[in-house]
Amino acid sequence: KTIMVLLAGGIGARVGMGIPKQLLKIAGKPIVEHTLEACEASPLIDEIIIMMNADTISELDYLRDRPGTKLTGILPGGGTRNETTQLALAAIEGDPRVLFHDAVRPFIDARIIEDCVRALDEFDAVDTAIPSADTIIQVDEDDCIAAIPRRAELRRGQTPQAFRAEVLRRAYAAAADDPDFSATDDCGVVFTYLPEVRIKVVDGTPENMKVTDPIDVHIADKIFQLQTTPAVALEDQLSAMRDRVVVVFGASYG
Ligand code: CTP
Repeated sequence: KTIMVLLAGGIGARVGMGIPKQLLKIAGKPIVEHTLEACEASPLIDEIIIMMNADTISELDYLRDRPGTKLTGILPGGGTRNETTQLALAAIEGDPRVLFHDAVRPFIDARIIEDCVRALDEFDAVDTAIPSADTIIQVDEDDCIAAIPRRAELRRGQTPQAFRAEVLRRAYAAAADDPDFSATDDCGVVFTYLPEVRIKVVDGTPENMKVTDPIDVHIADKIFQLQTTPAVALEDQLSAMRDRVVVVFGASYG
């Protein structure tokens, strides 16, 4: 069995709209509902659980009885992302495949889900990542450059992160014994506390962005339009931009 857990326990302080960002609407629907629909569309997902911000959990009641839904539970999240993950693990029985996905990444697609699930045939833990367009620099306490790792070896982590449930349970059990445990993503917990586990990395997509800052709400809205309106397909948009650039240069030199 394969279960998708949507992590929606946060408050979205950085977006700062006064409601958790997963409830902000794109095209008339909360972001978390778009994410749910995208996950339901994958034939490889049997069951979906939403871990929701406890103060606003009743806002999602309407999602419970949609016809044909794979949603089996909407449960309260915890105070940190790691706590939310552990509450989800406690609610799951046995050793199914479990994918944890940020509810605020609504543009997850069936290919990413398939790659994660297939990778679990061979690996006990899987991460999703994309190459970094920006150079990543490491800084010291004075905000001076301490290191410039080779960009070709770096990736930007996304979600889903997929596991055998038992493996992630063991990792969190080991973390619980560590007084110096500091929050990381779930793959980070496995990486640190079960060093023998190889974590496979599958390709994400640029669209699978996380709504984090206010600008991301506008970017997500635009991506949604591009994906749903054939007339504004990306290729058309790009060629329209090229035409416009020519006109602008023409005018300035004319
Ligand atoms: N998350 C969660 N439980 C928490 C905190 C975060 O399930 N206690 C979820 C968020 O809802 C989000 C995902 O983890 O879908 C990624 O976290 P982030 O972008 O940091 O979300 P927030 O914590 O809501 O954002 P902020 O840090 O701006 O408050």
